[in-house]
Amino acid sequence: DLSPADRAKRAAARRSVDFVRDGMKLGLGTGSTAVFMVRALAERVAAQGMDVTCVPTSEATARLAGGLGLRLSTLDAVGRLDLTIDGTDEFDPRLDLIKGGGGAHLREKIVATASDRMIVIADPAKQVATLGAFPLPLEVVEFGWQVTRRLVAELLADHDLLGQTVALRMAGDAPARTDQGNLILDLHLGRIGDARALSLALNQIPGVVENGLFLDICDMVIVGHPDGRVDIHG
Ligand code: A5P
Repeated sequence: DLSPADRAKRAAARRSVDFVRDGMKLGLGTGSTAVFMVRALAERVAAQGMDVTCVPTSEATARLAGGLGLRLSTLDAVGRLDLTIDGTDEFDPRLDLIKGGGGAHLREKIVATASDRMIVIADPAKQVATLGAFPLPLEVVEFGWQVTRRLVAELLADHDLLGQTVALRMAGDAPARTDQGNLILDLHLGRIGDARALSLALNQIPGVVENGLFLDICDMVIVGHPDGRVDIHG
């Protein structure tokens, strides 16, 4: 039996695969909502004998999609994608996003940026007026990470985000690792005023690989509801 949130995620996921057309090259997102999408996609592709090529945004999604019989490729092999469907941690009225709660935002951002179109699938809890209640993930290289963390904290102070915490993400007793083997800092900001300025400034710090802000990348958000209805934004 699915929880109300999972029924909402499934509703959004099922609707999103209606946008897939025969012959498309697709980016597949990561996370619990994306799991519903990959399953719905595999069912649709099998039922309709569709020819689609999929680029997964994580090892976890690659295992799931491959196991369900979807044809996988790499971004470099396909070059560009028609559509990426992914989950999110937050979306705002401009359809700007915070992603990376699952630690996959680097590959997700590379894949979404290489796509003609990005559709985000979400449950209602992901909708916010202003980004930032969800901690902003930052992928950083391990070398010198404590110095990188200090530079990030100083930058936040410059952006009037003083006193906010920058936490190393853990997985049990050890630091969490991304698929690239990097570390993640979670920036507890509360409210992000100027997301564009913050994103640019964060990515200027040596040691920062990528932040979880997706700005002007998402074209449509499909919000699912527990009763199966969906709302479409964008
Ligand atoms: C993965 O790193 C994230 O960007 C996910 O897309 C995001 O955390 C959404 O995950 P859920 O669908 O599990 O909420």
